[in-house]
Amino acid sequence: MSFGSSPIRSPSQFPDSPLSRVLRQPLLMGLFLPIQDGGWTPSTLPRTTTWTFDYNAALTLQAEELGFDLVFGLAQWASKGGYGGATKYREISLDSFMVTAALAAATKRILLLSTLHVLYGPWHPVHLAKFGATLDHIAKGRWGINVVTGYAAREPAMFGMQKVEHDRRYEMADVFVTRLEQLWSMTENLTVDGPFWAMEDAFVTPKPRFGRPILVSAGGSPAGVAYGARYSDLMFITSPAGNQLEDAVASLPAHVAAIHAAAAQTGRQMRTIINPMVLCRDTEREAVAYRDAIEAAADEVAVENFAEHGRRGDAQSWRNQRRSHRAIGGNLHLVGNPQQIVDSFLRLKKAGVDGMQLTFYDFAVDLEHFGQKVLPLMYEAGLRIADDAVPSVPPAPALSG
Ligand SMILES: Cc1cc2nc3c(=O)[nH]c(=O)nc-3n(C[C@H](O)[C@H](O)[C@H](O)COP(=O)(O)O)c2cc1C
Repeated sequence: MSFGSSPIRSPSQFPDSPLSRVLRQPLLMGLFLPIQDGGWTPSTLPRTTTWTFDYNAALTLQAEELGFDLVFGLAQWASKGGYGGATKYREISLDSFMVTAALAAATKRILLLSTLHVLYGPWHPVHLAKFGATLDHIAKGRWGINVVTGYAAREPAMFGMQKVEHDRRYEMADVFVTRLEQLWSMTENLTVDGPFWAMEDAFVTPKPRFGRPILVSAGGSPAGVAYGARYSDLMFITSPAGNQLEDAVASLPAHVAAIHAAAAQTGRQMRTIINPMVLCRDTEREAVAYRDAIEAAADEVAVENFAEHGRRGDAQSWRNQRRSHRAIGGNLHLVGNPQQIVDSFLRLKKAGVDGMQLTFYDFAVDLEHFGQKVLPLMYEAGLRIADDAVPSVPPAPALSG
């Protein structure tokens, strides 16, 4: 079901947009910022990773310096104690929207994506159309929304809301984003009396530079894919068969083909990007030892609570994540030496995936190792190409926090 339409163009249809620039890369490279305490891994093994803004800002500049294409953070609404355990896993988190907004003026080249629960609050489309137009201008076309509808069982209650049924949420998101697109593109006032959101003489300027901000979504259900096909430039996908590479590369081609087919039916193109946890060391033996040490220090209570949170939610992707996988985090586990990591990327690309949204355990340290040891091999393998048009960026400041 689709409500109304607008003649809006995606930034990917503007050859000089920041999105078009990064889409010229053979494999998109993103960094999933750890703006929540514990990142993706409820483990007590010592690490530098912390949720603070300074740490995440430094990581973003580090990623930009390394030539990464995008960063984004997740959005969650945890009650006191987070997911519990000794670590109070994810009790503390910064807001994804605010963090990327603050990074917009501090960065020059990297794309910034904010995860937003558009149905909580409730937000009104006029709010986000105005905020988005503002950020689009601050970031010069580098900002976008990862539209999420809220799979978690308990989050809506925090806003005094009842949980809305899975497919109905995608219908509501469809209306919400249609209104955003109308407000971003229309040169006259918009008056509608529903469904869901009414507005009279609503108007938003400045208009975004490249049609609209970047739109992203995440999910694998038929309703989620159909929504993404209508609106998203990028879709964050999960491996339908869980987080072992062999299972992922076997199951991804059909999944990705279905996503591309759905987009083609709406006359659009959509890229897919997957979220691996990369545990890389100079040798495979060291990488495996690193993984084992993280697992040995798992906060078992938090692992169990987080798994239970997943079971109680209604996300159709992530269904094949077994409990033990959540001790490490990420949607796929890539453990090995630099060449093995690059070989995994090559296999995932061959399986149809267009990009990697990386998660690490010890972010600043592991990202630096990745930049020194893995990225050069990615250039050799043709997964990355030099972008001579990229303006130079200042070196990353010292990490703190
Ligand atoms: C990489 C990735 C990141 C996600 N980030 C968030 C998030 O920050 N907040 C959230 O509520 N849901 C997040 N989700 C969940 C999705 O929004 C969606 O609810 C879930 O993937 C289920 O969609 P489906 O039922 O269409 O498969 C994320 C999903 C993926 C794959």
